Amino acid sequence: MNYYFAPMEGITGAVFRRTHHEFFPGIDKYFMPFITPTTQEKLTPRQKRDVLPEYNEGVPAVPQLLTRTAADFIWAANTLASLGYAEVNLNLGCPSGTVTAKGKGAGFLAHPDELDRFLDAVFSACTVPISIKTRLGVHDPAEFEALLEIYSRYPVAELTIHPRVRQDFYKGRVREDAFAAALPHCPMPVCYNGDLVSERGIQETIERYPSLSALMLGRGLLGDPSLVTRVRGGERAGSARLQAFHDTLFARYCDAFGDSRIAVLRMKELWFYFGNLFENSEKLQKSIKKAKNAEEFERAAAALFCSCEVRGNAVPAWFRPA
Ligand SMILES: Cc1cc2nc3c(=O)[nH]c(=O)nc-3n(C[C@H](O)[C@H](O)[C@H](O)COP(=O)(O)O)c2cc1C
Repeated sequence: MNYYFAPMEGITGAVFRRTHHEFFPGIDKYFMPFITPTTQEKLTPRQKRDVLPEYNEGVPAVPQLLTRTAADFIWAANTLASLGYAEVNLNLGCPSGTVTAKGKGAGFLAHPDELDRFLDAVFSACTVPISIKTRLGVHDPAEFEALLEIYSRYPVAELTIHPRVRQDFYKGRVREDAFAAALPHCPMPVCYNGDLVSERGIQETIERYPSLSALMLGRGLLGDPSLVTRVRGGERAGSARLQAFHDTLFARYCDAFGDSRIAVLRMKELWFYFGNLFENSEKLQKSIKKAKNAEEFERAAAALFCSCEVRGNAVPAWFRPA
């Protein structure tokens, strides 16, 4: 089984990927948060800081593109291939209103004929393997049958399925039944993504779906960074290791952004998921959330690492039944 770190815009940038990979081995691929290629046919300075190989040295990273324009996908995929990437991923899952309103991400799933023409053009013109990350549909999982028929016409390197529809965003339970029904009809390698937050959940998914090529985890790994390391027989990270990861990440953010306030904001995004890993940490998590500068942030985080035990079985708040 392969294990992938899900792309998470605003969180899993180059600095995060490198630091996670250094501290918690076991991830086969880190999917980069999407970049949107434009007709300018140039990567922006910001995109370059995430995708250029020098920012991803030693990290098995896969770039992801978000577009509905075949020409833009083709130049970007060819550029990424010439930089040395062996795979490019197409985002057909982003549920954000600003993205779907333009018919991109999960919004593209509402236009199957156009999607078919897009895939025909990109698979004819690109030599780099193309994988796809998709949802089951826009409104109804029954839409997936027609979508899968389209995907099946092309040599999709791997299909990552997040079994929700666009209207679900990331809320509620994944649509497990629809996924189970669709899987036997997928001719390409399939990666499962959604709500994997524990070793047990991972084992059960592997037992239930032995034909899967990979599992992709996002929020579960942010909340418990050594989760996949353990599944692969490695050690559970204790407080010292987690703090070393955290402090290294913060120092690297300060360096990369040249502004500790931006670094603190980035770290707060992580703490939204990470805080739950520590027993009785609610008060100190609040201090982290309220920190107005680097000193306040560092003091609050150090206090939390010093006084809160690491939970053995951390079930994230967003995952618990309401
Ligand atoms: C803050 C945030 C940012 C995300 N950014 C991306 C992205 O850039 N590309 C993408 O394909 N999915 C993105 N996703 C979706 C995740 O990759 C993943 O599919 C989702 O979190 C479900 O997996 P999980 O339950 O393991 O977290 C994002 C999700 C969140 C919560």
